[in-house]
Amino acid sequence: MVRNIVLTGFMGTGKSSVGKELSTIRNIPFIDTDEEITKKFGPISELFENHGEEFFRKCEHEIILQVAKTSEVVIATGGGVVMDPDNIKVLEASGEIICLTANPEELVNRLTGAGEVGVRPLLDVDDPRNAISTLLAIREDVYKQFAQFDTVGKSPSEIAHEIDDFLNAKN
Ligand code: S3P
Repeated sequence: MVRNIVLTGFMGTGKSSVGKELSTIRNIPFIDTDEEITKKFGPISELFENHGEEFFRKCEHEIILQVAKTSEVVIATGGGVVMDPDNIKVLEASGEIICLTANPEELVNRLTGAGEVGVRPLLDVDDPRNAISTLLAIREDVYKQFAQFDTVGKSPSEIAHEIDDFLNAKN
């Protein structure tokens, strides 16, 4: 069975756009876990608002179990997926986890632009800049355990080619 390619990384690191490029380069399907959650359970902002983060994480875990059953697919995951060790276990069994990164200032710029904050409930707060640095500090060590690809100053296509080269060199 050919292993999946799983993209993780903080919000705003470009997992979906890089994932789509990578799926084109490797000619395999692309799945976005946030989209799968929305299809099955409804919009993410409504899940947070009506049921809270814990409920959202349960929905997310269910989708992780579902997508991990596939093979030879590029999977872009929500930035919080790898905070659940069970999700890591399931995803590592199904494929290779790759982490996209960007420095904090770049993330603040990308995530606090017009139209960005409202679509991410964790940043839909009085001080999104502070929320970003707090979450980054909490998550840093978890993200660090995966192969990392810096996204600053590069196009999604360039990053996808770097990941493709890395995977080809490994196999
Ligand atoms: C989250 C990231 C979001 C989405 C949800 C929670 C997180 O996905 O799953 O808002 O906890 O980092 P993106 O990383 O695609 O923005």
